[in-house]
Amino acid sequence: MATILLIGANGQVGHELARTLQPLGEVEATVRGSLDLGDEAAVRAWVRRVRPALIVNAGAYTAVDKAESEPGQAFAVNARAPGALAEEAAALGAWLIHYSTDYVFAGDKPDGAYVETDPTGPLSVYGRSKLAGEQAIAAAGARHVILRTSWVYGAHGANFAKTMLRLARERDKLSVVADQHGAPTSSRLIAEVTARVAQRLLAGAADGLAGIYHLQSAGVTTWHEFACAVVDQLRQRDAAAVRCREIAAIPTSAYPTPARRPANSRLDCAKLERSFGVKLPHWRDDLEQRIEEILG
Ligand SMILES: NC(=O)c1ccc[n+]([C@@H]2O[C@H](COP(=O)([O-])OP(=O)(O)OC[C@H]3O[C@@H](n4cnc5c(N)ncnc54)[C@H](OP(=O)(O)O)[C@@H]3O)[C@@H](O)[C@H]2O)c1
Repeated sequence: MATILLIGANGQVGHELARTLQPLGEVEATVRGSLDLGDEAAVRAWVRRVRPALIVNAGAYTAVDKAESEPGQAFAVNARAPGALAEEAAALGAWLIHYSTDYVFAGDKPDGAYVETDPTGPLSVYGRSKLAGEQAIAAAGARHVILRTSWVYGAHGANFAKTMLRLARERDKLSVVADQHGAPTSSRLIAEVTARVAQRLLAGAADGLAGIYHLQSAGVTTWHEFACAVVDQLRQRDAAAVRCREIAAIPTSAYPTPARRPANSRLDCAKLERSFGVKLPHWRDDLEQRIEEILG
């Protein structure tokens, strides 16, 4: 059995990975309490001790707005730690699977989805730190797969979908941004696709598969439409629980945040589907499959 080092097992994606990676090998998992990603020496020591065949790094500094005032911490966790993991993976000949984000792009592509080779241009500290992580991994020369994903939600952890469900129970009216386009992607879907990728990498003869891939549910929507879909799911099951009577569509300019976000967050996933034989579901189908657990 291959040894797999799963980092960040208490995050949205990490929590799901603990289950989906389990059939593939002996999984050694870390959480913040056992490994601080801000401590580069500790990161290296963990890899040297475990000597994995595969590292899956689901740990990240994901507080997008807070990162604007904590760039040092964001870069330590999102750039230096992945770089150290990649250097250690290279020394062992191990694979590294890492996650990045739509926020590496400026979001000004006029139409269509971003492909992996499109120029980057992050608008925020978080986006810049994640891009620096991608670059550090590439520079380390490790065999790696970087999965850029977006708008992650799920049953475990804090996320937009759960916030909307809570607010719909508490408030008469919600206002949600309607001019940022992308697709929500469930943590479960990301973990299932990751397991498929991991299986191929561990099976050998996979060097040609190294590189960056986009991983996003199919279809395109806005935060506003996603909020409506999530609240509808609750209404269908328990109409009395929904206090909210209106979800207003507002422009980004009416909801100022410390970090700027891309207007176009669409990711073209053809490379991932072709290379690993996966078919990504429409975001509405993905939501339909996850909603019971999220509401539960
Ligand atoms: N969330 C999104 O919408 C989104 C969108 C695009 C890409 N991504 C990327 O997808 C990946 C997974 O994201 P996610 O949504 O699962 O994130 P998440 O729920 O925020 O999980 C990140 C995990 O990293 C841990 N962590 C943060 N700082 C740490 C540190 N200094 N030392 C050790 N652990 C630390 C967190 O620990 P605690 O639990 O203790 O806080 C958390 O368990 C990340 O690479 C992220 O950048 C996420």
